[in-house]
Amino acid sequence: MASDEKLKKIISHSKEYGFVFPSSEIYDGLSASYDYGPYGVELKNNIKTYWWNAMVKMHENIVGLDASIFMHPTTWKASGHVDAFNDPLIDNKDSKKRYRADVLIEEFVAKIEGKINKEVAKAKKKFGDDFKEAEFRATHPNVLRRTKQIEAINARFKKAMDDNDLADVKAQIEELGIADPESGSKNWTDVRQFNLMFKTELGAVSGDAGIIYLRPETAQGIFVNFLNVQKAARMKIPFGIAQIGKAFRNEIIARQFIFRMREFEQMEMQFFIPPGTQSKWYHYWKEERIKWHKALGLGEANYRFHDHLKLAHYADSACDIEFDFPMGFKELEGIHSRTDFDLTSHEEHSGKKLQYYDPHEERSYVPYVIETSIGLDRMFLAVLSAAYEEELLEDGSKRTVLKIPHFLAPVKVAVLPLVKKDELAAISQKLVNDLKFEFTTRYDEKDAIGRRYRRQDAIGTAYCVTVDFETLEDGCVTIRERDSMQQDRVPVEKVADIVREQISFRKVFSDMEATPLPEEV
Ligand code: GAP
Repeated sequence: MASDEKLKKIISHSKEYGFVFPSSEIYDGLSASYDYGPYGVELKNNIKTYWWNAMVKMHENIVGLDASIFMHPTTWKASGHVDAFNDPLIDNKDSKKRYRADVLIEEFVAKIEGKINKEVAKAKKKFGDDFKEAEFRATHPNVLRRTKQIEAINARFKKAMDDNDLADVKAQIEELGIADPESGSKNWTDVRQFNLMFKTELGAVSGDAGIIYLRPETAQGIFVNFLNVQKAARMKIPFGIAQIGKAFRNEIIARQFIFRMREFEQMEMQFFIPPGTQSKWYHYWKEERIKWHKALGLGEANYRFHDHLKLAHYADSACDIEFDFPMGFKELEGIHSRTDFDLTSHEEHSGKKLQYYDPHEERSYVPYVIETSIGLDRMFLAVLSAAYEEELLEDGSKRTVLKIPHFLAPVKVAVLPLVKKDELAAISQKLVNDLKFEFTTRYDEKDAIGRRYRRQDAIGTAYCVTVDFETLEDGCVTIRERDSMQQDRVPVEKVADIVREQISFRKVFSDMEATPLPEEV
């Protein structure tokens, strides 16, 4: 399926089956704002639980926090967001469309990468098993020329951004012949910086003194609470603080469904460590996080690391975990070595000490921080993109199925009486009443059984249990697994055990190999 077509199908499927609706749709919607429907909210909650359990339950040295969205405005001066949380903005004078200059350049580079990959694929096909990809990439003249071109573009762009030389960014766009992707026009305005924070006013305070911001990241709530948490929970370094919550950014271009929104949710963890150990802990968290992703079973080839060319103002190393979305590989999660930038800056701006007394080193210091930060909405899109399948069945019929990992499925069990008869309904309802204490369970008696299976497949229900007339005789029901469509006859009292076994977080976590701690390496 073409990537554009797949994204469109996911968007319409999400709406039809109650995963994601456009926000305030009766007023024609609001760009890049979405509401999560009945199955969307279940899936979102399950993703949150998977993350929270992996961070807080599985690490004895990580604790949780739920800080408020509004923070003292000086927070954002200290964090650097007031001065540096900008995107380089450029307008096309003819189409009046607004773009991020860095994205225009990135997309240009991606096209060159596409040409290189095509060349490699062609050679792979030609030489078969004898093909040595690394050697080909290092020697083939076209590949080498294009790789050099990419390096030159990236280096010039990085320098221009580091020097805040926006005139050179515009010059680069013009020299590369980059056109407005929609209109083809090359008639560009100058590039200027645009701050991404949303401002609002606090209660009765008028003028600038009343301006506060909607937080653009949840991380700062963790930093300003660092000592509160450390003391209250008696944490010893190294330790982490995890948080899930809304963040807001006035994105210049917010599009691609829930990939880039102006209001979104983040799952962030700040890990506080002794200065000088950041490289080891950075690698530890890279490994730990990629394992979390791969344990979902969405396909290992769907992930890759991407090192940042342009480091954020707070980082000494940073990378993204990218996922192969329908629009191609894009950032899903960021892992950043944030040094002591935030805590030191909050010390300076607040005049309060944010230091830790290390009993081993017998000294106080401002800890360094490794951050893992993943967008919940992007994770949701990653799960849906990998799960969405249209299958042609043996009998020639089609089914659309969401092969969501069982433990994340919005509905775990649907109980379906084969026909609408009181005696079958009674057993089915009894089963639902029993299962619902443990699992999200649905009861459905409307339409033919085949149609009901299709409905449950379309929302990704892990198991369907059918109650029929034989159940009245032998106390057995038919349990059908979503992906294989395999049906087994089992005693009704076994259903909960079967489902529990297949959807347990315990299984996912116990199958995950432990990452060696830096001290053990
Ligand atoms: N505290 C660090 C931080 O916020 P980031 O790379 O700017 O780092 C972290 O954001 C993650 O938040 C991203 O990897 C992405 O998954 C998610 N994210 C960022 N902007 C987003 C947006 N406009 N819409 C949806 N998710 C977004």
